[in-house]
This record gives sequence, structure tokens and C-alpha cells, in this order.
Amino acid sequence: MSHTVTAIQAATKPEFYAALNRQLAAVLHGERDWVCNLAQTSALLMQAMPELNWAGFYLFKGGELVLGPFQGKVACVRIALNRGVCGAAATRRATVVVPNVHDFPGHIACDSASNSEIVVPLVHDGRLLGVLDLDSPKLNRFDAGDAAGLEESVRLLLAASDLPA
Ligand code: SME
Repeated sequence: MSHTVTAIQAATKPEFYAALNRQLAAVLHGERDWVCNLAQTSALLMQAMPELNWAGFYLFKGGELVLGPFQGKVACVRIALNRGVCGAAATRRATVVVPNVHDFPGHIACDSASNSEIVVPLVHDGRLLGVLDLDSPKLNRFDAGDAAGLEESVRLLLAASDLPA
């Protein structure tokens, strides 16, 4: 089944994410394949969210983060847990918002256009599955409102999918 993603008109971030997450639930409905749902989620976020240059997943495999489904430029393929914003979010199991990536010690620059970033961990029953990473060319693109909205997106994604063993 295919879906049309419609442009979101919203005055506030809570309204924006309520609309975004309704679309996400509709896109994921009826399909439980993990990789399929990761791919669709990255595409929906890239299409629906303004001012992004990269949206996608790194999956936790063999003790490190390995590039998963994404939208954007070719990226770094493997990230150790002690490296970059993705490694920090995975290690802390908490969302990390970076207003200016050039000020983040150990930031990994995959695309020189990126200036700000948010990384949301994927954790199910205490188990780290990976991270959702969004990059923006705009400084200070993400705040606590984006963290709350995207954490809900991740909850929807995990609940809608058969997770890897
Ligand atoms: N900037 C990230 C690396 C991933 S790319 O931006 C897609 C980081 O520091 O973890």
C-alpha cells in the first residue's frame, strides 16, 4: 500500500508532531517488517520536516552503530559508542540535542552542510537497538519540543515493528 505524505501546517511544535506522528502511524499501519518500517520512517521525516539534510538510522550491531536506512548523502558507515553525537545518545540512552555541531567534542562530520543535530536512541525493554539521527544545515534547528515529538515517533516505530532478535 502506498501513502501520500501531505505538507504539515502547524503553528506550534506540539501541533506539528501530533500531525507528523498521525501520518507516521498511517504509513506504518499494516506492515511489521523492521527494515521496511525504518526506511519508511526516514523517508517520512525527510519529506515532512523542514530544514533537514539527513534523516536516518544507525543500528546497534556487534557493539557498534552500523548505518541503516536513511535519506540524504552517503554517510559514515560505522560509529563506535564512544564517538560522535550518535555514540553519546546510544551510550546515555537519552536524546541528545546539539545546537551547533562544531562545538560538540568528537562530532563526526559526514556532510559538511550539517550545523545542528538531534539523536534519539531506540531502546526496547532496556535493550539498545540503535539511534535515529537528524541533521540540519540550520544552527539551533532542534529543541526540547523536537525531542519530545521524535521520541513519540520512535515509540510508534518500535510498537509497529517486529524487532530484531
Ligand atoms: N554526526 C553524527 C554522525 C552521523 S552523520 O551525521 C549522518 C555524529 O556525530 O554522531
